[in-house]
Amino acid sequence: MPPMTDFHAPSPAFGDPPLDAAAALRWQVAAGVDIAVGETPVDRTVAAPPAMPKPAPAEAPLPAAAPPLANPPAVDPGFAQAADLADLRARLEAFDGCLLRRTATRTVFGNGPDRARLMVIGEAPGADEDRSGEPFVGRAGQLLDRMLASIGWPREAVFVTNVVPWRPPGNRTPTPEEVTLCLPFVLRAIELVAPQALLLLGAAAATAILDTREGITRIRGRWHSLERPAAGLSIPVLATFHPAFLLRFPDKKALAWRDLLEIKARLGGPAV
Ligand code: URA
Repeated sequence: MPPMTDFHAPSPAFGDPPLDAAAALRWQVAAGVDIAVGETPVDRTVAAPPAMPKPAPAEAPLPAAAPPLANPPAVDPGFAQAADLADLRARLEAFDGCLLRRTATRTVFGNGPDRARLMVIGEAPGADEDRSGEPFVGRAGQLLDRMLASIGWPREAVFVTNVVPWRPPGNRTPTPEEVTLCLPFVLRAIELVAPQALLLLGAAAATAILDTREGITRIRGRWHSLERPAAGLSIPVLATFHPAFLLRFPDKKALAWRDLLEIKARLGGPAV
């Protein structure tokens, strides 16, 4: 009988040659690898190193929140024409114009009542959401549920989605180009739900939806307005800190609590 592989054996030190397949896997886990991005392995010890991007000059302007696309998708997914959320979901499932979907396991469309009075938009799915196909189900999602409950809004009464519906590899922040590609999807979702208030969680959602370069610390806590004249909508928008940020910096919860009270003051409870 072949010897049993001991998955609890200590990992080789960084730089040691891997001993066997299991040791190679342990080495990769220890090095922080959590996703394979290609079908074919690349030996980067012999391949020419990729050219390093030139550092931006100090005075370079900030990138726009949603830049125009250098390579717009060849086929317009027609998100703006979606008749209802089911139609929008079908168009999103068929959309292959954003490379993030190739490394993601599931498309995370969003969930909640079709005509929720409150809509919450986050950044992008993480590992738990990628596995389940539902938004905000991991630790940040559990905190979001408690935040909403604290102002009398059960999660089931809220429509929750993200500016990007696919998990970026390794949970990195989506690039402005990825956000731009997905923006027509989320804007149509907002039009179809037509909420009475929109709560944006974190900088990625706030800069994309409000089309601003301001940081979240400046944007949060003030009412803004999202104009969608073609849909006859002018939607009050409030941004606050992302729950994942609040998990890391709990001293910011007091400010988020203030923001949530703004939502409560404007909407009251979930009953119409
Ligand atoms: N963080 C997000 O921004 N969205 C999710 O769905 C989960 C975590």
